[in-house]
Amino acid sequence: MQSFIQFMPTKIVFGQEAEKEAGKLARESGVSKVLLVYGGGSVVRSGLLDTVKSSLEKEGILYTELSGVKPNPRLGLAREGVKKALEFGAEMMLAVGGGSVIDTAKAVAVGAENPGTDIWDVWMGKVSVDAAKPVGAVLTISAAGSEMSDSAVLTNEETGKKAGFNSDIVRPKFALMNPKLTYTLPKYQLACGIVDILMHTLERYFTPVSGNMLTDEIAEGLMRTLIENGKTAYENQTDYDAMSEIMWCGSLSHNNLTGLGRPKDFACHKLGHEIGGMFDEAHGATLSAVWGSWARYVYKLDTARFARYGRKVWKIEDKGEEETAVLAIEATEEFFRSLHMPVCIGGLKTGVLPEEKLKEMADSATKGDTVRLGCFKKLDAQDMYEIYKAANHE
Ligand code: NZQ
Ligand code: ZN
Repeated sequence: MQSFIQFMPTKIVFGQEAEKEAGKLARESGVSKVLLVYGGGSVVRSGLLDTVKSSLEKEGILYTELSGVKPNPRLGLAREGVKKALEFGAEMMLAVGGGSVIDTAKAVAVGAENPGTDIWDVWMGKVSVDAAKPVGAVLTISAAGSEMSDSAVLTNEETGKKAGFNSDIVRPKFALMNPKLTYTLPKYQLACGIVDILMHTLERYFTPVSGNMLTDEIAEGLMRTLIENGKTAYENQTDYDAMSEIMWCGSLSHNNLTGLGRPKDFACHKLGHEIGGMFDEAHGATLSAVWGSWARYVYKLDTARFARYGRKVWKIEDKGEEETAVLAIEATEEFFRSLHMPVCIGGLKTGVLPEEKLKEMADSATKGDTVRLGCFKKLDAQDMYEIYKAANHE
């Protein structure tokens, strides 16, 4: 068995009315002032924000607000949040929303703990930090897994560069997860979330390191659970059990449980982030748009692994390694299509892109062809370009 380190410090409160625990958990964390972070208004319309505020007030916790987080969250708003947090003396950032909101809260948490350090320098790896203020989350969408992850992704709106920061210091202290809160999601966001959750495990499942049987079995079980309940939820978004399973899959898919003992690949995320940063596309859609092209580009390096994925996850009858592997790729794409998710760049809102854009994105992802991305196959700028090119059709 391969060695690993497991660090999952997030306390989870899962179930109906979990959001009402916000005040109590903030109090337990020893804070008395929080910065409430939320997005473009869904939590105001649903009444969730008021519920969270009441819960804080009940515990005598003071708060101020940072609102207006957009999908592909912007650096500018995070910087504004740092200022607010410092002026107010916020001791915790409480995110009420999805990945974009939680990631903004994480960025503010880093900035507020390290005043004088520009957060983009941290995101660009120019400056390192070893502490952040605590973050709590009330989750409203099953997708990014930020509620338990070590990651936070920001977009620099001046350059169109989207980049992640990864460190255990930003793993949330607690996450409150009430599946009913996800009933109001636009269908498109539900589908994007399901894709993202699947991708977080796929990006760990396809790596060059074998061993850790339990890691594989957990990964495959999670993917089967997600696919089955994803189909049900897409048809009936108020199916509590289906929405619950998806929500828990979302957290476990990205807290590294499905990758213990092996390196992450995440090349498709790098491919997707370039598109998301440049064209403001939804994260999940950027992933489904490139995954099939990535898979076809690399699967021959380990056909047996793709065939196993087909047998165990898609229950494809064994037809020999090559055919089963190809069928597994097709089954994944068919699932994306069934959720009305794009399986090519032409299916994104942006549409088919000019060749120069593809080159630009490949160059940016690999920092001018100086870094190799992924590990199943280490990709250089030419590889990235080839994958984009294969996906660049209607
Ligand atoms: O802004 P509001 O009005 O709240 O609307 C949001 C937003 O428009 C809406 N929404 C969320 N919950 C809702 C709801 N609408 C109605 N009812 C609800 N219950 O959904 C839209 C998308 O929200 P967003 O937070 O952007 O979604 P998601 O959770 O998919 O987050 C995406 C971001 O997370 C990053 C992505 O790159 C992207 O920037 N990621 C973060 C990761 C991490 N921190 O670990 C890992 C991921 O791989 C990903 O990169
Ligand atoms: Zn993702």
